[in-house]
Amino acid sequence: MNILSIETSCDETAISVVAAKGEFPTATYEILGNALFSQIDIHAPYGGVFPAVAKREHAKAITPLLQTALNEAELLEKGRHSPDGSARASIIKTLEREPDLAEALLTFAASHDQPEIDLITVTTGPGLEPALWVGVNFAKALAELWNVHVVPVNHMEGHILASIFNVETDDALAPIKFPALALLISGGHTELVLMPDWGRYEKIGTTRDDAVGEAFDKVARVLGLPYPGGAKVSQLAALARKEQLPPYKDDLPRPMLRSGDLDFSFSGLKTSVRYAVGESVLSETDKKALARDFEDAVTEVLVAKSSAAAAKYGAQSLIVGGGVSANTFIRQELVSHFLAEHPDCEVYFPNPGLSTDNSIMIALAGHAHSTHSSNPAAVKYLRADGNKSL
Ligand code: KG4
Ligand code: ZN
Repeated sequence: MNILSIETSCDETAISVVAAKGEFPTATYEILGNALFSQIDIHAPYGGVFPAVAKREHAKAITPLLQTALNEAELLEKGRHSPDGSARASIIKTLEREPDLAEALLTFAASHDQPEIDLITVTTGPGLEPALWVGVNFAKALAELWNVHVVPVNHMEGHILASIFNVETDDALAPIKFPALALLISGGHTELVLMPDWGRYEKIGTTRDDAVGEAFDKVARVLGLPYPGGAKVSQLAALARKEQLPPYKDDLPRPMLRSGDLDFSFSGLKTSVRYAVGESVLSETDKKALARDFEDAVTEVLVAKSSAAAAKYGAQSLIVGGGVSANTFIRQELVSHFLAEHPDCEVYFPNPGLSTDNSIMIALAGHAHSTHSSNPAAVKYLRADGNKSL
């Protein structure tokens, strides 16, 4: 089965073609084509992602990316697949809010044969709704053009599956033991999710305010680093540890560490960092030390809550996913402290390239649900949901 997968939930426009062999969860996957355009440079000067700008950029990038992914997959043949009058009208209607995109897609169709795609998977949430709608409407239009089904995908389920997708060895999902616990840490989310079995998710903890990645990005800003500064804060922190710098602020809070539940809160920690700096001009040494103090505080809370959740639910696996899971220090601390308390647990992190947003993970999650979504009429009712929950 050849899957065309689309992801536009935030600031990456991503399209891939993934060939799935076998049934979920024992299938093997081959990435035939993978195209991604990151809008980060466009948003960086504003210090954050503007939904209207993200939407515009997705609409601009998505047809060229479709072409690139299909071409890489060797599924792009010159020819004509121009829809007839009524199909054309329906595609224009589906993309009525993106007339330039309708035009680009119809132009593409007029010069290419229908590719061998059996299924479309698309992120329908959570994320920025205007951004999500571009991917959703594009998926609908392609479904009309090619007469294939669309599977709506939850972005967070994508992150979970990305973390257990082993690209290096066998291109398959790891045979994880249940119950599994997922720690999802990204720019938009901080969640603990219990997985009693494949495809079953129960949110057992979440952030009450800022997400971890958001806190990293805000601290980066305080340190004068460009958006998104999470990775840079972590690099500074690593230098402080190497140079054994004394703390800049040795009593930063560990929010909700002893709250007795599995929720998080990071906005107070970020505010403490801001107050610690006040009006001072930080030296490079100060910046490194403060970055380390902050990363220590965040990590301690993440490790403690994951560990408490694993103890409470008897987790056999810990799956760490989302953009912040690229963080080396958080990985190290989870491996040493979490595993010390749960030696029988296996801990999974995403392969490089699959921790940040991508469309491979959306193909995996769509494949998981492909057998339940075989009603072609359902395409009509696809919608984006910014707050979609697992
Ligand atoms: O999952 P992701 O690509 O997008 C969202 O769905 O949000 O995550 C992006 C977030 C940003 O906040 C970025 O600063 C953060 O992940 N991030 C990091 C690191 N790499 C990316 N935060 C801390 N340490 C890192 N190494
Ligand atoms: Zn994400």
